[in-house]
Amino acid sequence: MNAQQPSLSWEDGAIVTIDQRVLPHATRQLRLRTVDEVIEAVSTLAVRGAPAIGLAGALGVALSALRHRLPGGGVDRAAVREDARRLVAARPTAVNLEWAVRRVLTRLDEGHRAVLDEGLAMLREDAEVNGAMVRRAADLLVGLLPDRPLRLLTHCNTGRLATTAIGTALGVILELAARGRVAEVLVDETRPLLQGARLTAWELREAGVPHRLCVDSAAAAALATGMVDCVLVGADRIAANGDVANKIGTYGIAVAAARHAVPFLVIAPESTRDPDLATGAGIKIEERGAAEVTECAGAPVAPAGTAVFNPAFDVTPAELITAIVSESRVVRPREEPAAVPDAPRLGDA
Ligand code: MRU
Repeated sequence: MNAQQPSLSWEDGAIVTIDQRVLPHATRQLRLRTVDEVIEAVSTLAVRGAPAIGLAGALGVALSALRHRLPGGGVDRAAVREDARRLVAARPTAVNLEWAVRRVLTRLDEGHRAVLDEGLAMLREDAEVNGAMVRRAADLLVGLLPDRPLRLLTHCNTGRLATTAIGTALGVILELAARGRVAEVLVDETRPLLQGARLTAWELREAGVPHRLCVDSAAAAALATGMVDCVLVGADRIAANGDVANKIGTYGIAVAAARHAVPFLVIAPESTRDPDLATGAGIKIEERGAAEVTECAGAPVAPAGTAVFNPAFDVTPAELITAIVSESRVVRPREEPAAVPDAPRLGDA
C-alpha cells in the first residue's frame, strides 16, 4: 500500500483492502468476495475503525445482493437481510456499521446494482466527509491555540486505515502538519492490539510528521507535566447527549486532560452519531477474547488460564469533551446541556 492507494475499494466484484493485522511488518492486500470473508475481516480487525467497517459492511451487503440475484432481476431479499444482520453483529459498538448497512438496504427493492451503487456513493462521500471534518477541526484548533506549533496526543488509529481517505483525528493532525502547525505527536501504543504503535506510528512515519510512541499509561503523566497542548481522538458511537464511545483508554485520557485543563477534541462524522441513544450508558461495549491480553505478539505474558477483562471500548462523558467536530458542525458538549437532562449518568447505580 502506498500513500495514493485508498485503504478500501471495490474492484471486479470484490472488496479490496489492506490486512491491518499484519501491519507494519507486512503489507498484504485482501480481496473479500463473500459475506463470510467480510465478517471474518471485520471481527478479526483486518479491517477496522468505525468508518472503514461501515463501508466494508455496506459493500458486504452488495456482495450478498450479487450472490442472491434471482432470475428476472430481483434479489432474494430475505437472504440478503439475514446476511446484513450477520454483518452488523460482527462488531457491536461502532454505529457506523449498522448505519451503513441500513442505508444500502434502502435500495434492496431496486436490485443488486442499486445496492452496489449506494455502497460506491458512500465510498465517494467518505472522502468528502473526511476532508470537511479535518479542515473544520484544524481551523478550530488554530483559533483555540494560535501561538505556536502544537504538541498533540492521540489514541488508537484514526487515519486513512480507519476510513478510506485522510481520516478523522489523525487526519486533523496531518492537516495541521501540512499547515506547519505540528511540533510533535505523542502516540499512545493502544493496548492490547497496538493500533497506535502498529498503525498510527506507521502512518505518521509515512507522512513525515514528528512523533514519539508512548505506553498508554504515560499519557496522564504527559498531560500532567505540560507536554501536550491538545488531545485528538475519534469515536465509535456518540449518544444524543454527547457521551462518546471510543477505544479503551480514551476515558482515562479525558479525565487527565480535564484535570490539567488540556483541550480534548473528538473528531467523527455525523454517521457516528446515534441520536436514538439518550446517553452513553446505553452503548454496547464489545468485549474481546482473553488471548489479546494474556499474549503479546503470540507470546504468553500471563500465567496460563488467567481470567481477563478485555473491553474494546469505553465511554467518555460529554462533560469531559471540549468539542465534537464533524463534517457539518462543532458541538461543545460542556456548554450545551444534555438533550435528556434527567437521564441517568454513567456510574449511577
Ligand atoms: O477496535 P478498533 O481498532 O476498530 O477501534 C477503533 C477506534 O476506536 C477508533 O478511534 C474509531 O473507530 C474512530 S476511527 C476514525
